[in-house]
Amino acid sequence: MPAFTASAPGKIILFGEHAVVYGQPAIALPIPQVQAKVIIIPDILGNPGSVRILAPEINLDSQLDALKPNHPLVAAINGVTATLGVTHIPACTLKLTSTIPVAAGLGSGAAVSVAIIRALSAFLGTPLDDVQVNKLAYNVEKIHHGTPSGIDNTVVTYSKPVYFMRQQPIEIFNIAKPFTLIIADTGIASPTALAVSELRKAWQKKSTHFERLFSAVGSLTRTARQAMEIGHPERLGPLMNENHELLIEMGVSSPELDRLVLAAQASGSLGAKLSGGGRGGNMIALTEPDHTESISHALHQAGAINTIIVEQGARDLS
Ligand code: MEV
Repeated sequence: MPAFTASAPGKIILFGEHAVVYGQPAIALPIPQVQAKVIIIPDILGNPGSVRILAPEINLDSQLDALKPNHPLVAAINGVTATLGVTHIPACTLKLTSTIPVAAGLGSGAAVSVAIIRALSAFLGTPLDDVQVNKLAYNVEKIHHGTPSGIDNTVVTYSKPVYFMRQQPIEIFNIAKPFTLIIADTGIASPTALAVSELRKAWQKKSTHFERLFSAVGSLTRTARQAMEIGHPERLGPLMNENHELLIEMGVSSPELDRLVLAAQASGSLGAKLSGGGRGGNMIALTEPDHTESISHALHQAGAINTIIVEQGARDLS
């Protein structure tokens, strides 16, 4: 029997993180340079239901039934078996590897779920389509995030730029002119669930203040989409700077993120902001292609432990 494999990309939030949880639009882009990968190797001599889970990066080597039901890996697996009406998974080893840093705002949890759901449903003989994969991955996100908007699982499932609003059909849009981003990691792990729940508490105390910030972010996001669709990506820079200021006001930035944003701005970036849950994790900077090296250098000098350079929209031209 052959092995079954699936992979899913990381992601960044270009505009609108946090505000998207409160009904505003957000824009997310897939980052295929980092990926979660799952391989399922059938064990023809094993008993049905004997499923070994291997995830070397998190030191996990366990039988499936020894893990808690609310473990995100188990939730992803159970979502697939419940959907397909399978009571016993044929004996196998499910190996998970990922180059997406955990708790860094790059969608690691969503990518792991999507890769598991795709590989397992194929192994069980009924590959699920994107709509089903997205729905099951969203259910797992609720364990990771508490009150997720659904943007992470959506961009990771479809692996396309998405303009996302809660409870609205997914909009995949065209980037008319390519642009370059540098993603820089503060090296500080920061679970999205925590940032989201603390912001919720702050919003409950001062809802008018936070609603004003969320709606200002929503306007920036709409303007940014237009700029990308009409081929003016350089206009994203000032919008990113403004979005970052609003995220500071929301209390989801950190000294390390602010230092990297300042370093990018001071070294020739067109604009920069934190990306994802914040409080740590990654930031993004918009750059002219020939400035990437000097800005990356400045980011490392300012404390970044890693940088990734991505070109967006190159293959989306139409
Ligand atoms: C996380 O990538 C984005 C947040 O807005 C949370 C969410 O939308 O679920 C911070």
